[in-house]
Amino acid sequence: MKDTLLAVLKDNAGKYVSGEKLSRELGVSRTAVWKHIGSLRDDGYVVESSPRRGYKLVSVPDLLMPAEIWEGLHTTVLGKQIHYSAEIDSTNRLARQLAIDGEPEGSVVLAEQQRTGRGRMGREWSSPTGGIWMSVILRPELAPYQVQALTLTAAVAAVEATYNATGVTPGIKWPNDLLLGKKKVAGILTEVSAEMERVNYLVLGIGLNANIPAKLFHGQLLGEATSLLAETGILVERTHWVRSFLETLERYYFLVLQEGFAAVFDSWRRYSVTLGQPVTVRIADRVVTGIATDIDSNGALQVKTDDGIETFMAGEVSLKK
Ligand code: BTN
Repeated sequence: MKDTLLAVLKDNAGKYVSGEKLSRELGVSRTAVWKHIGSLRDDGYVVESSPRRGYKLVSVPDLLMPAEIWEGLHTTVLGKQIHYSAEIDSTNRLARQLAIDGEPEGSVVLAEQQRTGRGRMGREWSSPTGGIWMSVILRPELAPYQVQALTLTAAVAAVEATYNATGVTPGIKWPNDLLLGKKKVAGILTEVSAEMERVNYLVLGIGLNANIPAKLFHGQLLGEATSLLAETGILVERTHWVRSFLETLERYYFLVLQEGFAAVFDSWRRYSVTLGQPVTVRIADRVVTGIATDIDSNGALQVKTDDGIETFMAGEVSLKK
């Protein structure tokens, strides 16, 4: 009901719509219209009212509200269901719970901030307001060893969404960190439930430091992490980024399921800042140095060392500073 009211106000953006017309179009009383207007205002929409002329939508909040994401979203599966919170512990945690409870493929969890955002390798992920903290539930007919490749696919979608929303193209550090210069601007954490041969569900969690002020990158993050705003001065239209990410990811996802990963990997190689570079790979208590030469058909990193080519399915890569 609130969404329909919003849609009518948006269709008449900048113009007054009478309470009578709204109550007729929505099939509810004028008191109910007034209550829903109050609820839109609580969400941050600015709606002017005039006793004789009715209601006029003046501005929409800079929030990742489902109604704002759905407007102009061209997907068939991803984002059909969106669970939105102003604040949450971790979108990946909720997405996993929803997936266990049978949530359909394509559902998205979004939050303005996370109290205990999770990063790779058990790290914390700082998630203040201004970023995009999102998890997508997928149920692909893939074998568990192909999940890494799907994560690389999400990194490609995140680069292209960033380009579409800002004109800036981040680089990808294997496997799926997005960098601006040498600093990290986005990361992806994939959590999977699988049996030996098949994936039950997969949660793709993506964190983008979009509109986070430079001064918030202190302590451990100083010199390591940055935001699009801090690096470029561009204020990201976050709803645009989310739409673009979901549309691009869906296109690649369907392509991958039909034709395999080759085409997506070509894009990944184009955006990579790892390939051709001297790297150090840390995995468990091993530290290996060499030149990153390529990724294999599963997305694993190949590194040429003095002893030959080593292939890494997981690990933490550092590029030479
Ligand atoms: C990394 O360490 O590079 C991965 C970071 C992933 C962070 C995102 S933010 C949304 C989702 N929810 C989480 O708790 N983590 C992921």
